[in-house]
Amino acid sequence: MIPIFQQFPGLKDKLPYVSLCQFPTPVKKLDKLGQAIGVEHLYIKQDGLTAQPFGGNKIRKLEFLLGEALEQGAQEVMTFGWAGSNHALAAAVSANKIGLTGISMLMPQHSADYVRRNLLMSHYANAELHHYPNKLLRYLGVKYRQFRHWLKKGKAPYIIPLGGSTPLGIVGFVNAAFELKNQIEKKEILEPEFIYVALGSAGTAVGLMIGLKALNMKSKIIPIRIIGQDVTSPATVLELFSKTVDFLHTADPSFPVLELSEHEFNIRDEYLGSGYARFTKEGNEAVDLMDEAEGICLDGTYTGKAAAALIDDARKQVLKDRVVLFWNTLNAQDFSGFIKDLDYHRLPKSFHRYFEQNVQPLVDFGPEVT
Ligand SMILES: Cc1ncc(COP(=O)(O)O)c(C=O)c1O
Repeated sequence: MIPIFQQFPGLKDKLPYVSLCQFPTPVKKLDKLGQAIGVEHLYIKQDGLTAQPFGGNKIRKLEFLLGEALEQGAQEVMTFGWAGSNHALAAAVSANKIGLTGISMLMPQHSADYVRRNLLMSHYANAELHHYPNKLLRYLGVKYRQFRHWLKKGKAPYIIPLGGSTPLGIVGFVNAAFELKNQIEKKEILEPEFIYVALGSAGTAVGLMIGLKALNMKSKIIPIRIIGQDVTSPATVLELFSKTVDFLHTADPSFPVLELSEHEFNIRDEYLGSGYARFTKEGNEAVDLMDEAEGICLDGTYTGKAAAALIDDARKQVLKDRVVLFWNTLNAQDFSGFIKDLDYHRLPKSFHRYFEQNVQPLVDFGPEVT
């Protein structure tokens, strides 16, 4: 049983849940990287291994969200993101695993190799892919598709909001903090003072903040912005925190009523660069360093930027003698075998451009490709 249900059995009775993950994800000491940047106690939490054939942070949220989709008798799940969205792919792959169909409502982004891979893998997982040039057209597209699917299936698709960051989805990351606590108790890792994690739709960071507080742990979340203020602001974090705590407390009154003030966290804005999915020099250097030192693969959109913050802080001596955890949110499963024979022409035409235009170089950082 997952640790949050062990600790709060009332939640087990109330919350929808479908098991999709292999828990706990491993923690590992990063001796070589730690030595290179002067942090003796540096660890990684490998959420890339949450599931197969596609892991990463999003599957934790999907265990609850897809649990609800099943409970409601849905046959399809609709979600949102940009073309290379890991979340949309995670939803499509996980839905497919439990007999549902994913519908991904996507918007344009700067291309990269991973965008190509994720689109092909979504296709492999039988997802229905749609591409809209802007939010307004996507909004209209959602209404139209919901109606069409309702006509076809007699039921509208279950909707998963952007990034799966609803109170129900966020419970997956409250549970992740409980999982970490167990690993600390088993002495697999020292209790971290700082946990660095990428901040997108904020559910990952907020869930961890709630779990750490509920457990009275001293670890502080360092959220690193990878998307603009228009999507996620400090107010978003505060709102998701209080809504999720309310949700948990209502489901099981023994779950503590927790509060978060804006002084308790600091979103690190300085590693975003020129925007979501725009690679940065610092991010790419962090990807290189992690690969050279530990053979662990990061990416330029999310985890490279989060690692860049950690490395920068370490170089400024902020992390000297501290216990630091890098929460790796990126899928670590190699799914290339599933897509190697797929031809991108089988995707809707509006996605072909991601295969026909240049991609941003990740390892050899050069001038921006537009
Ligand atoms: C690899 C990776 N890391 C981090 C995030 C951000 O997680 P959240 O949306 O919960 O803030 C995402 C979101 O898509 C992601 O794909």
